[in-house]
Amino acid sequence: VFANVPAAPADPLFSLIAAYKADTFDKKVDLGIGAYRTDEAKPWVLPVVKKADAIIRDDPDLDHEYLPIAGLSSFTSAAARLIFGDDSPALAQKRVVSIQAISGTGALHTGAKFFSKFYPRPQNQKVYLSNPTWGNHVQIFENVGLPTTYYPYYHPATRGLDFEGLTNALRNADEGSIFVLHACAHNPTGVDPTHEQWEKIADIMAEKKLFPFFDCAYQGFASGSLDEDAWAVRHFVKKGFELCIAQSFSKNLGLYNERVGCYHFVSPPLADADVPAGDLCDVSMRIKSQLAIIQRSEISNPPAYGARIGDIVLNDPALFAEWKQNLETMAGRIILMRKLLVEKLKELGTPGDWSHVTKQIGMFSFTGLTEKQVMRLREEAHIYMTKNGRISMAGLNSRNVEYFARAVDKVVRE
Ligand code: LMR
Repeated sequence: VFANVPAAPADPLFSLIAAYKADTFDKKVDLGIGAYRTDEAKPWVLPVVKKADAIIRDDPDLDHEYLPIAGLSSFTSAAARLIFGDDSPALAQKRVVSIQAISGTGALHTGAKFFSKFYPRPQNQKVYLSNPTWGNHVQIFENVGLPTTYYPYYHPATRGLDFEGLTNALRNADEGSIFVLHACAHNPTGVDPTHEQWEKIADIMAEKKLFPFFDCAYQGFASGSLDEDAWAVRHFVKKGFELCIAQSFSKNLGLYNERVGCYHFVSPPLADADVPAGDLCDVSMRIKSQLAIIQRSEISNPPAYGARIGDIVLNDPALFAEWKQNLETMAGRIILMRKLLVEKLKELGTPGDWSHVTKQIGMFSFTGLTEKQVMRLREEAHIYMTKNGRISMAGLNSRNVEYFARAVDKVVRE
């Protein structure tokens, strides 16, 4: 019956990891997947995560019973406070539904599934993704039958934001279109709107009745500050949007393979008289019940370990403070690598203006290297990055940055 199933292409990012691992060259450099590395090019278990892990292991009452369908509530409510802020009007009005998810991808999928079942799209309204965007976005939405299209985002000439293209797309989209917005540290470009630009984006989206669907995978990574990186989301909430957020803890807690995340849905503001005494307002209760059906049918209930770590770190004031320091360590090393790379390229007199490397933020830099140059770097220098010229800044360190700069210098000259 399945004899004619066509072969699908391998995932570009995961096949890149496999190619890097198979490479036996001693100076090989991995700038592929967005995962933090130390200056020794090693994965980093955050010290605060080690402490939380010890607390879990020492707990004599720990068992392996099922979590509730919506996940560990002490974790999901702390995750909501983290992204919305303690003083969030949406939290105060009890109109935020939070459901634990299989990290960012699972949260995006839960949201996409919910939209495919309940979002009215009388004109076949589409899901707009930034051009370019994270490679997985298209298939997550298309897999549940939601058509996708792109909005302009990156301006190759300036290596910055194509703000005019972006705002024109917002103005020209059908009312009710869904816009996927990267909350901070845009993947793959590292280019984020300024506060003023976010304000303008929110104004047009409100006027055109567009639905904001945030993807937040890097809170704490862009600026090193959890609050600053949540600025855009909080601004939209303050403006009274109905919106949703896929939140990942893979990067900021370094819990990549534990799949820790949340899907949050924010309903529109309520009149004071309608704010409930109980847990959630009426519409949020109904939405939560439907999200629970989706969750139950797909994963039954979420895994516990990563959520327990998140619960401890987010809810213990001393550990929370330590986590902020761990985040500063990661964000700070990445920022330092940006500076060092630009310095090295300047020293070498490498053709081109490389100032975008220090202007861009978060885990990635969109270097502007062409696919041909990327392939040469892989073949000649054993340097691995995605074909679009994105580098994971965390893959650079004080020992390989010069090697990388020299290799780049060579390929851009020829
Ligand atoms: C990346 O873009 O490198 C990360 O978000 C990892 C992934 O799952 O693609």
